[in-house]
Amino acid sequence: MTENLLPPARVLGIETSCDETAAAVVEDGRRALSSVVASQAELHAKYGGVFPEEASREHIRTIYAVVEEALQQAHLSLDDIDAIAVTQGPGLPGSLVVGLNFAKGLALGGGKPLIGVNHLEGHIYSAWLDPKDGEPEPAFPLVALVVSGGHTELALMTSHLTYQRLGGTLDDAAGEAFDKVGRLLGLGYPGGPAIQAAAAGGDPAAFAFPRAWLEGTFDFSFSGLKTAVLHQVRDLKRKTLTPEAAAAVKDWNAVDAPLPTADLAASFQQAVVEVLATKARFAAQQHNAKELIVAGGVSANAALRALVTKDTPGRVHIPALKYCTDNAAMIAAAGYYRHALGMSAAEPMAMDALPNWAVGS
Ligand code: KG4
Ligand code: ZN
Repeated sequence: MTENLLPPARVLGIETSCDETAAAVVEDGRRALSSVVASQAELHAKYGGVFPEEASREHIRTIYAVVEEALQQAHLSLDDIDAIAVTQGPGLPGSLVVGLNFAKGLALGGGKPLIGVNHLEGHIYSAWLDPKDGEPEPAFPLVALVVSGGHTELALMTSHLTYQRLGGTLDDAAGEAFDKVGRLLGLGYPGGPAIQAAAAGGDPAAFAFPRAWLEGTFDFSFSGLKTAVLHQVRDLKRKTLTPEAAAAVKDWNAVDAPLPTADLAASFQQAVVEVLATKARFAAQQHNAKELIVAGGVSANAALRALVTKDTPGRVHIPALKYCTDNAAMIAAAGYYRHALGMSAAEPMAMDALPNWAVGS
């Protein structure tokens, strides 16, 4: 299937699955005419993670202005839009319904087709966005690694919108591990960018943290690594105390001791990205993939981007930084292919949020 066989269409995408309120207009699945993201990160930082009720309330406050801004930046009105794509799941139920209800209203009011998009599918389709001059679109078969705050999934795609799950995390998602370790090191939320920044001056070999290879599978596990960092931090703190003082400690989080944060962050980051890059490369090789796509918030990580690009023979697609973390251009891109391939909702008003929707089901 090549792009030029599909009909042209401008799709308005809407994304509210977690803590970003986003809207975008994408032409023919590839060219983003606008992409507006209102992040709630600051709002949730004080809780050290996403507070679901606050998230849905903030989506309600913001969504109208965000959609309006996306149309304005694209110099278009709703009349110029051919279809509306919205994240239907997976995600926080109270957040998903805000975007879904808003999209239903626009579809009903404007007489537009409505397309429900899987959020992980959206991350994968971020690889189709904004091609550089002459860059071909991703070719099948391809292997996609989605690494985000909620998911770590490896899938094989042999054509548009078909996914064969190869493996995924058995416990924490990669981004979740970054967020938890970020909190542990006192770096705040979200942990991923903070750990990357802290790791900049650190030695990735300073601490020998474990890698869960889970050989013979394409599964992942990050909870052992997280626990290893926790124990390392406690040992380092313990060494700054007398044995009596250490024995009296009830809450190690409350013990304030200088830590080699840069080395801890760099060593943790290295353990995560080595496993991700190696397993993704094996999967691509085993399935004779023409390309490897790495997407989702953690694909913004510079160490991961460098390692995947260096180590993988064949083509590698990692989205531009602005399309790695949650955005609506990726939802519009995936929505374009669903729309072009005849997968718009037959009864849009009956569409429900699917908080646990697995990609490909
Ligand atoms: O895709 P995303 O924006 O939201 C979900 O669908 O979950 O991913 C957010 C996750 C967070 O866990 C965040 O810490 C992580 O992506 N992240 C990073 C980086 N930027 C964001 N992890 C590592 N390095 C980064 N530079
Ligand atoms: Zn996401």
